[in-house]
Amino acid sequence: MKYAILGGSFNPIHMGHLFLADAVLSAFGYDRIILVPAYNSPFKPGAEGASAKDRLDMLIASIPADPRLTIEDCEIRREGVSYTIDTIKDIRERYRPEGKPALILGDDLARDFHKWRSADEIVSLTDIIIAHRLSAADIPFPYPHKRLENEIVEISSGNVRDRIGSGQAWSYLVPTGARFIIEDRALYGLSKEKNAGITRELIAGIENAVHTMISPSRFLHSRNVALLTRDLCVRFGMDPLSGYLAGIAHDMCKSLPEAELVRLTKKDGKPVLQLERKKPTLLHARAAAVLLRERFGIHNKDILEAIRFHTMADTEMGPLAKAVFIADKIEVSREQVSPALRDNGSFDDLDALFAAVLDETVAYLRSRSLTLSKGTLRLLEVIKGTKG
Ligand SMILES: [Fe+2]
Ligand SMILES: [Fe+2]
Repeated sequence: MKYAILGGSFNPIHMGHLFLADAVLSAFGYDRIILVPAYNSPFKPGAEGASAKDRLDMLIASIPADPRLTIEDCEIRREGVSYTIDTIKDIRERYRPEGKPALILGDDLARDFHKWRSADEIVSLTDIIIAHRLSAADIPFPYPHKRLENEIVEISSGNVRDRIGSGQAWSYLVPTGARFIIEDRALYGLSKEKNAGITRELIAGIENAVHTMISPSRFLHSRNVALLTRDLCVRFGMDPLSGYLAGIAHDMCKSLPEAELVRLTKKDGKPVLQLERKKPTLLHARAAAVLLRERFGIHNKDILEAIRFHTMADTEMGPLAKAVFIADKIEVSREQVSPALRDNGSFDDLDALFAAVLDETVAYLRSRSLTLSKGTLRLLEVIKGTKG
């Protein structure tokens, strides 16, 4: 296997790094790029904001399912100041590359390369590739090398850090996985949001899985439910990330066969109701709560309860469950929603909005002579009782 090495601080990794790796792969026929994050680059003393672990986590989150890229953490494990010569020897020893590995250098490093420890030995052990980073002109480099004729991508880690620190747009200059880590861990001067232990990184993994489990249009419905639940959480003082997660996952079992729904539902320890036996597709709600707990390790009671109750309203519903129920019924892709509910800004408390949505849902079910669950009937009585 032919390898090329791309070292750096990756503080943070950005699209310019990945574009450069991709350009080397297509220009010179290497099989794989080894990304080597420095523990502490000798050329960037004091580059602050993210720990070695943060930087490594951001790299890992940036390259899922791409077999052309790999990450080597030898410099971080060695700690202290990293010298490229040590890394090259280590990689040659363990990876056993076919021919010499390439060493990719930006032209910003080319000028001072002769000062690097064992520069001559580096040259003899690798094929050096000089890439344009600062200048479209060829910066002189007095050692054997190849030139990558790449376009300059005007992104640098320092620029990304400055943009984050000064509130300018930066989100799509870095891979999405890295962005979620920056936001979850409040790196580079972002302010930390409170959350209930639910992170964007966690949600992104679950969202990708949900996408593979249901049809694209069902997924878009789920995303609309996630967005509206999140908005309701902001409006009514609940955790927005919990709301988003409950919304994105609520229909994740919608395409599972009935036997699988029954098998999963048994694990929640509650009896199967007569109505559910008659119409097992209703179980997709309870099955999703079980799957979210068992496969994805989500134990947050409010989230699991919100998913569980979305097909059958019940008196036990808490605020988050009400928000998911509302969002599921009135999100933008739903067709038969009254103007009063579409334009629901006049409801200043969640219970009033929930009661109005439930009214419409019950009227619809009754118009089609569909059965209401006992829980829903009890809930209607409770709501009527408080109303009057
Ligand atoms: Fe559903
Ligand atoms: Fe739904």
